[in-house]
Amino acid sequence: MSRLECIKNGFDNQDYSQRQITTLLAKTKIDHSWSFSEKTRKDTAYITHGYHRYPAKFIPQIVSRLAEKYTREGDLVVDPFGGCGTTLVESKVMGRPSIAVDINPVAVLITKAKITPIGPCKIEKEFTALQKRLGTYNENTKVKAPEHERIDYWFRAEEKRKLAFIFTEISEIEDRDSRDFFFCGFSNILKNCSIWLQKSNKPTRDFEKEPSEPVKTFLKQIKMMLRGNTRLFELLSEKGYLKVSSKVVCADARTIPVKDNSVSLIVTSPPYVTSYEYADLHQLTALWLEYTKDLSDFRKRFIGTSSHSKKDLELNSSIAENIRKELIEKDKKTAEEVSTYFSEMNQVFIEMKRMLRKGGKTCIVIGNTSLKGIEILNAEVFVEQLQNLGLKIADIIKREIPSKNLPSVRDEKTGKFARITDKNKIYAYPTEYILIMEK
Ligand SMILES: C[S@@+](CC[C@H](N)C(=O)[O-])C[C@H]1O[C@@H](n2cnc3c(N)ncnc32)[C@H](O)[C@@H]1O
Repeated sequence: MSRLECIKNGFDNQDYSQRQITTLLAKTKIDHSWSFSEKTRKDTAYITHGYHRYPAKFIPQIVSRLAEKYTREGDLVVDPFGGCGTTLVESKVMGRPSIAVDINPVAVLITKAKITPIGPCKIEKEFTALQKRLGTYNENTKVKAPEHERIDYWFRAEEKRKLAFIFTEISEIEDRDSRDFFFCGFSNILKNCSIWLQKSNKPTRDFEKEPSEPVKTFLKQIKMMLRGNTRLFELLSEKGYLKVSSKVVCADARTIPVKDNSVSLIVTSPPYVTSYEYADLHQLTALWLEYTKDLSDFRKRFIGTSSHSKKDLELNSSIAENIRKELIEKDKKTAEEVSTYFSEMNQVFIEMKRMLRKGGKTCIVIGNTSLKGIEILNAEVFVEQLQNLGLKIADIIKREIPSKNLPSVRDEKTGKFARITDKNKIYAYPTEYILIMEK
């Protein structure tokens, strides 16, 4: 039996050298049963998963399969980079209490809406009343539009006025859960109603764009969400899981409000170094909901952002040290950014270890990438860091990423996600790993 097979069978409870880790990951064969390529949008957007677009979100089936394998009903599941809440939604429908944190308040708003089943009659009633109020809008309606130059940058006067009207009407809803439900819907229509270049994740204006009409778009969005809410409510009622606790907190992944040794399973997909600038991507919602007045400050809170790098970093990985040395030869700034990223991820892993109970597992979904022509071996570095912190490899899964879930090309020079038509594109992690480590 090969060493990899030994690990997979749980016979090989030891530490691996840098070279062994690299070989182990390189030799791992793709397990096609984890690609879920046969799943349709309907399968992946079921119940509340389709409420809101979110870059690099999980497909729910990855989470449920891991939770099925590594937990029992009642076990606590945590996601330190919760994103739009996929881990929490799946945990709830499986009767596992769960907690997620995310530094992005927009992610927290979306997650909160997705994990909060509201009685279908109650939310229908709120919707009917809101719809009626929105129907009264005309050119003479008094509207208090927000005064912010960035809002004027992204929205034409007509759409801005209508959006401000919708926003005010939602703000007046007394019930907090219902209000957040509608704000989540409001958030998801902002891009369509703005002049943000529709197909782009980068903040680019398109002066040719005809933005969607806000009221009509909002009502359509809410009708879709009402169907999702009803399905979630019915499913949880059937299973007796309506009261299973799920909590989302706007916090840093290095300070998770969870007791020591209490977590059975962590499922997470960390941000990538200098890939998505979540702060830029979610600026429309952040501006309207006043989560930030200052975008550059908002950016600094994110791990993987290009806006901060520090000195005296603890990489806790010889593989990371080598990557840093190679990068310094090419570009000092990128070397610093990548080192900061690995050092910050190491701090997150310390927090993960603190929370996990003995025997608890952490499943990290991550792919490798390349910057300035140097391979950034995220998966290898993470395994080494976690191992140096005292965790053992329980399993390594390699999966293909169906292209509809992640852009598969990056710009060769900048490392940022690129379009398939771009000249400098290189193929980026069409595969990724699920690193399963045990405390
Ligand atoms: C790849 S996404 C996670 C997507 C998630 N798995 C889902 O299904 O939606 C990574 C997330 O990490 C978050 N993030 C970045 N820096 C963070 C930090 N310092 N603390 C907590 N979350 C952070 C980003 O806001 C983003 O939502």
